[in-house]
Amino acid sequence: PQKDEDFRPNFHFTPKKNWMNDPNGMFYLNGTYHLYFQYYPEDNVWGPMHWGHATSKDMITWEEQDIALYPDDNGYIFSGSAVVDRNNTSGFGKDGKVPVVAIYTYHDPVGAENKENDHQSQAIAYSLDEGKTWTKYEGNPVLPNPGMTDFRDPKVTWDDIHKQWLMALATTKKTLFYTSQNLKEWKKLSEFGEGTGAHDGVWECPDFFPMQVEGGEETKWVLIQSLNPGGYNGGSGTQYFVGDFDGKKFTPETYMEKLGEKHEYWIDFGRDNYAGVTWANIPQDDGRKLFIGWMSNWLYAQEVPTQTWRSAMTVARELKLVKEGDRYLVTSEPVEELKKYRDEDHYMEEINVSGNSIALDSEDLDLARAEIRFTIDDLQEMTYNFRLSNVVGEEFIVSYDHAQKQFSVNRSLSGQTDFSQDFAAENSTAPRISDSDSLTAVLILDKTSIEMFFDDGKTVMTEIFFPNQPWNEFSFASLEDFRVSELKAYELKFERPT
Ligand code: FRU
Repeated sequence: PQKDEDFRPNFHFTPKKNWMNDPNGMFYLNGTYHLYFQYYPEDNVWGPMHWGHATSKDMITWEEQDIALYPDDNGYIFSGSAVVDRNNTSGFGKDGKVPVVAIYTYHDPVGAENKENDHQSQAIAYSLDEGKTWTKYEGNPVLPNPGMTDFRDPKVTWDDIHKQWLMALATTKKTLFYTSQNLKEWKKLSEFGEGTGAHDGVWECPDFFPMQVEGGEETKWVLIQSLNPGGYNGGSGTQYFVGDFDGKKFTPETYMEKLGEKHEYWIDFGRDNYAGVTWANIPQDDGRKLFIGWMSNWLYAQEVPTQTWRSAMTVARELKLVKEGDRYLVTSEPVEELKKYRDEDHYMEEINVSGNSIALDSEDLDLARAEIRFTIDDLQEMTYNFRLSNVVGEEFIVSYDHAQKQFSVNRSLSGQTDFSQDFAAENSTAPRISDSDSLTAVLILDKTSIEMFFDDGKTVMTEIFFPNQPWNEFSFASLEDFRVSELKAYELKFERPT
């Protein structure tokens, strides 16, 4: 059976050794994308948190760097963000060097143990060498705890509309907003979250930014808000809200004022995309909103069958805001940089599916590093299935029931599952959001993950798996015949950084 290095992704970022969770402090500068992450370098389970660091020229091939932030007497270094302080508002800049400022949560483990409700506070550190080495500010914390058990994961953005630094911060059931001119002094503006959205868990890792609606001039503000547990399929999940922001207060669209637990606004409906946030300092002439998430779930992340390291990040994604009817949808698709890794393509005009039809096998391409795209036209009220399988009879099955307009994922036969009761006992599901009568799918495959982007990223599902042998077949199936058009598959070629 496969284990450890057999399970290490071909291209998704993993730390060489030991434990990783949330992405942190992502920024772009001078041709390099930076990714920091919650990291425990001494064990393959969660522990005293550091910020690990990785860099990339294209958000696809990552190179791990030295640890950026170590825990200290004030506590562990929990999740947070980083900004490029071009105008040196913080005063940390020296000799014309632009400071990069990280804003993170100090988590005091002793206070947490004693159930003190002030054990998390916000602190800053700065770098004058483009994110390599960091100096913690001597005036920390910059935002002490006012008496809230959960008070963490500051995401700071330069709000160019209202000319302020803006921090979104999570507390148990709410997002809090703060403002600053210098990143050192913070003043509370408002809060959001009571009475709307999923609340069956603790709100964590927010992100808040303006986005232009596709195909128009309109600008809306998007609040991304992870929660754990209480995700769409239980455990960890990331919902979002869309609305207006007057520089002080976020007002959601009317239809979002009173959303229940099982609403339809999730960045990803799958079980394995958590705590994702966006990159800071993307140049204006690029203008994309670029996102990455942690490809696991707190339900079982510490038990998955890898030992040397634990967890990967998702593929980097581009978020867009689209208007569909009266609703605003945040869509995601893999960043276009992934395309340059495509090898020769396998193109089949169409396949007529009758019963079970093998579409691709390992003679065509390596299914552990592949992009598969297809369309099903003229949807009928029936269930469409596709599946990955291997020589030992394991399978990963995805179904789309067009009568219910629902996707579902069954990974109960996908290989190693018994490390956690929560991993595969139930199918995960997702609503189909699009009304179109043809369904498009883009699947990104790696050794232990599939990322599924349906209808141009209106419904997204990310799921991990641990088959005992690599997948060697991709097939379609259904009770009634149907036709798949424009099936295109690419092997993705990567050179592993050494
Ligand atoms: C989310 C989270 C954050 C916290 C970090 C600790 O996964 O719980 O709220 O800052 O992980 O590692």
